[in-house]
Amino acid sequence: MMSAKDPTPSIDPFSLELDLEQGLLPEPENRIVRRASDMRGYYADEAALERLIAEAGDPIHYEVFEVPVPEEAGQLMYCISTLRPGRVGDECFMTKGHYHTVAETAEIYLCLRGEGYMLMKTSAGRCAWERMARGRMVYVPPCWAHRSANTSDGEPLVSFCVYPAHAGHNYGDIQCEGFPRRILKRGGEVVFAGSASPGPAVTS
Ligand code: F6R
Ligand code: ZN
Repeated sequence: MMSAKDPTPSIDPFSLELDLEQGLLPEPENRIVRRASDMRGYYADEAALERLIAEAGDPIHYEVFEVPVPEEAGQLMYCISTLRPGRVGDECFMTKGHYHTVAETAEIYLCLRGEGYMLMKTSAGRCAWERMARGRMVYVPPCWAHRSANTSDGEPLVSFCVYPAHAGHNYGDIQCEGFPRRILKRGGEVVFAGSASPGPAVTS
């Protein structure tokens, strides 16, 4: 553990080579897998999600690949997040979304592949979204919950994410509140629909 008194860092410098084309992290130690069945309660069309689980064999929704660093202040965690393409009803596949447990921690997403949006909200009711596409970076400021959605018709949405290693993940609040908007695709167009899920009204 690093401290001001003992500045000895707990890990040594290292480097690695990412496959930027495919969006692959070499030899990840952790692979977090979220399947359709892990997403119960998140989509508006619950019946469509159940059909997907039953008829498509509970497909993988998204994966996070990590080579973890110590979860201590001063370190930077990094990972690759890969969100598959697809719809639940007309709602684009999305991540659960979370606040950071240490709310005053930001995050950078560098999109390597695919297309989509980063949907963000604050607990005070502000809502924002930013486009994700190869080469685009999204800055998620402290205190903004964030969820990504894949709007493409066949390509994974892949991002390289960097955030303070002590940030932690608070999923519970989003499970209760949802986001003020849902990202749909209708007739080939992306639609930001008002959400029927409980939560604060959109003020911006
Ligand atoms: C880390 C972060 C991303 C997400 C990943 C999956 O703070 O924001 O690496 O963890 O995109 O999304 P969630 O964690 O919302 O299931
Ligand atoms: Zn995060």
